[in-house]
Amino acid sequence: MSPEGAVPPARPDRNLALEMVRVTEYAALAAARRVGQGDKIAADQAAVDAMRLMLDTVHMDGTVVIGEGEKDEAPMLYNGERIGDGSSPEVDIAVDPLEGTDLAATGAPRALAVIALSARGTMFDPGPCVYMEKIATSPEFADLLDLDRPLAETLGLIAERKGTGVEDVTVVMLDRPRHAEAVAAVREAGGRIRFIPHGDVSAGLIAATAGSPVDLLWGIGGTPEGVITAAAIKCLGGQLLGRMWPRDEGERRAALDAGYDLEEIVDVDRLVSGDDVFFAATGVTDGDLLDGVHYTATGATTESLVTRTRSGTMRKIQATHDRAKLREITGSRAG
Ligand code: FBP
Repeated sequence: MSPEGAVPPARPDRNLALEMVRVTEYAALAAARRVGQGDKIAADQAAVDAMRLMLDTVHMDGTVVIGEGEKDEAPMLYNGERIGDGSSPEVDIAVDPLEGTDLAATGAPRALAVIALSARGTMFDPGPCVYMEKIATSPEFADLLDLDRPLAETLGLIAERKGTGVEDVTVVMLDRPRHAEAVAAVREAGGRIRFIPHGDVSAGLIAATAGSPVDLLWGIGGTPEGVITAAAIKCLGGQLLGRMWPRDEGERRAALDAGYDLEEIVDVDRLVSGDDVFFAATGVTDGDLLDGVHYTATGATTESLVTRTRSGTMRKIQATHDRAKLREITGSRAG
């Protein structure tokens, strides 16, 4: 009890992992129907509709803190929307029903449906800055991250820790003109770059996985994606550091007016401060992290990753979905 006698908000001590996976599976199944059809808006909408429908079946009092945008522009899963059946626990929810809308539309690898959940008031509000400079890695190199140090020097430190030359260090990076200087610096130092067209959540998770072929994620990408990636990395055990990257003076001013410190370097515990954080992702298209939705004669298969920080449990879940039964329960939405 607080001094005023109020009961503190219930913490998410129930294991919501399986319920979160059902939500991302369902979004992935719906989006997968649109893979390769060239319409990223339709693919995203299918994922949003499916995710929203499934979220309402979860026993929780959820507030969307990272969603599809403000209420006016997003009829569903908008920032501030209440979801769940209203019973405890009280939680913050970050959703990206289709991470990599272009990837799905073009049938390219690594599109995911993702969600993160933690106790109410524990998720970083991305505010007006669309982009964040991010650097992420696995537990082995986590203490070497520093956004103020030149990237090439960090590569050198990683090489030293690995016992290799810099030519054996690989950075995964969004392929963007704004990264030209960093690309030149990495190449000058002798390091390797794995470019991705989209999808830095998936890339961040690969970089955070010990023993993966990628040592580091670096780049300027979505701030909401940074928060969602941090939720997973808190459990995987690596690190992600971020710093707001305003696109123009208007965004810079809006962030300062809203009280953001643009010099602040935030880590995973600042991005998601709760100690009971859930993250779930289901593959929409095949990737190095997860397989996508595959269709069979009778239905479809999915592959998902779900993590919980309190227990440190990471589960990979392979599921088979029967088309007829899925349609019975959900109409034709996801089957
Ligand atoms: P969408 O799912 O909204 O298409 O975003 C994909 C993505 O590539 C993210 O993974 C990344 O953080 C962001 O977009 C990068 O933004 P931009 O494409 O504007 O450089």
